Amino acid sequence: MTDLSLPKLPGSLPDKRQVAASFSRAASSYDSVAQLQRDVGNELLSRLPQDREPGRWLDMGCGTGYFSRLLGERFQASEGLALDIAEGMLEHARPLGGAQHFIAGDAERLPLQGQSCELIFSSLAVQWCADFRSVLSEAHRVLKPGGVLAFASLCVGTLYELRDSWRQVDGMVHVNRFREFSTYQQLCAASGLHVLSLETRPHVLHYPDVRSLTHELKALGAHNLNPGRPGGLTGRARIKGLIDAYEQFRQAQGLPATYQVVYAVLEKPL
Ligand SMILES: C[S@@+](CC[C@H](N)C(=O)[O-])C[C@H]1O[C@@H](n2cnc3c(N)ncnc32)[C@H](O)[C@@H]1O
Repeated sequence: MTDLSLPKLPGSLPDKRQVAASFSRAASSYDSVAQLQRDVGNELLSRLPQDREPGRWLDMGCGTGYFSRLLGERFQASEGLALDIAEGMLEHARPLGGAQHFIAGDAERLPLQGQSCELIFSSLAVQWCADFRSVLSEAHRVLKPGGVLAFASLCVGTLYELRDSWRQVDGMVHVNRFREFSTYQQLCAASGLHVLSLETRPHVLHYPDVRSLTHELKALGAHNLNPGRPGGLTGRARIKGLIDAYEQFRQAQGLPATYQVVYAVLEKPL
């Protein structure tokens, strides 16, 4: 059982095999509920430097390959690599095309040669990586000088309504943990990459009820995988407690769920 009043330990992100298995299970249901992913990825695409045509791009944590296909359309003369840790996602993405190669791999240990890409695009994947320093050093290694890493991720503040509501019910961890925005700032500044832009923006979705929100998180493979999450069935009384607590946040449009999105564009110096 985890007491939320304790300071968070580094490395308290979910186990990688669980992340891969959870996303593999979610591959077929993912696209129907992925509005947040679409909005964030499109915003990240709009932030790519306009004047570049990469010889080779990498979609890191490609999921179902939605953005691999958009990158493939945008950079028609380029070679595209789509990489994900979840085999189930790659099986879904591969027949839909967009990239020339679909690769099973880990963003913390890229199975790619040094200086082999001009662009690394990564939308809503690196929040799953416990060792973000390694993600950045791998991006630095794999990018050619002048190459760009553009990523979108989530930071503290994400799903705070759900976290606070659960805290009122039982004080336990029911929401995945996220890094502080200041940690993103520090690690990016120390990465050897030049930070062209780095900012956080709230993105608020609305749901008619708590069940719709938790159902969507599950379909996305993004439901709670934290160590210390409660096991077993959730009792009726606790669910009712959660629903009552969450109602305090209700707005005219419904129950809000805030995602605190980090957008970053970094360049490897020449
Ligand atoms: C929320 S999905 C986003 C998928 C896609 N980028 C999009 O925007 O639609 C996150 C993806 O990151 C992948 N992922 C998580 N940890 C990873 C890691 N260490 N290396 C590579 N991919 C990872 C998951 O398997 C999942 O497919």
